[in-house]
Amino acid sequence: MTKRVAILISGGGSNMVSLVEDMAGDHPARPVIVLSNRADAGGLEKAKARGIPTAVVDHRPFGSDRPAFEAALNHVLDQARPDIICLAGFMRVLTEGFVTRWQGKMLNIHPSLLPKYKGLHTHQRAIEAGDTEAGCSVHEVTAELDGGQVLGQVRVPIDPDDTADSLAAKVLVQEHMLYPLILRRFASGDRSRIDLP
Ligand code: GRF
Repeated sequence: MTKRVAILISGGGSNMVSLVEDMAGDHPARPVIVLSNRADAGGLEKAKARGIPTAVVDHRPFGSDRPAFEAALNHVLDQARPDIICLAGFMRVLTEGFVTRWQGKMLNIHPSLLPKYKGLHTHQRAIEAGDTEAGCSVHEVTAELDGGQVLGQVRVPIDPDDTADSLAAKVLVQEHMLYPLILRRFASGDRSRIDLP
């Protein structure tokens, strides 16, 4: 049975594009909706250009009422009936209630070697710490921010002249490889961890 995948974005959606373009042929999943909290997210046009239904639930009218915003998300998601949700550059913190509703069905990609550098500005923090490597992680989403089981990681060397921007660009290339690889495995029922290279 082909798994239905919802992808949540807030920005350019490069990871969403990688996921969508990989879900073809014998892939066990297909995208059914791209949902953003921002109407100006560049990824929405990319999804439309690929024939993927899109929706926007702007978080701003809900203010600090996260449960109300998430209820509006769930209203859209319940209509899309996803088997899997992929957070892909989705920049809203989700409450335990939402995560519990989708427990075991939701993935996220984070631009660090978790459990190091949860949260934001991961590359700058790795450089300032004098790390020799950075990378990205795909993990199951739990109530703890960036805290769920890691299903895949890719390590990327930090060069002495790297800036946060140059490192982010190197890591993003690897994100576009890792996330589709993990989604294929996850959609086929394989939750074993893979570490690259
Ligand atoms: C990526 O670095 C991803 O790791 C983070 O958001 C950034 C932008 O992703 N979660 P995208 O280009 O919008 O997919």
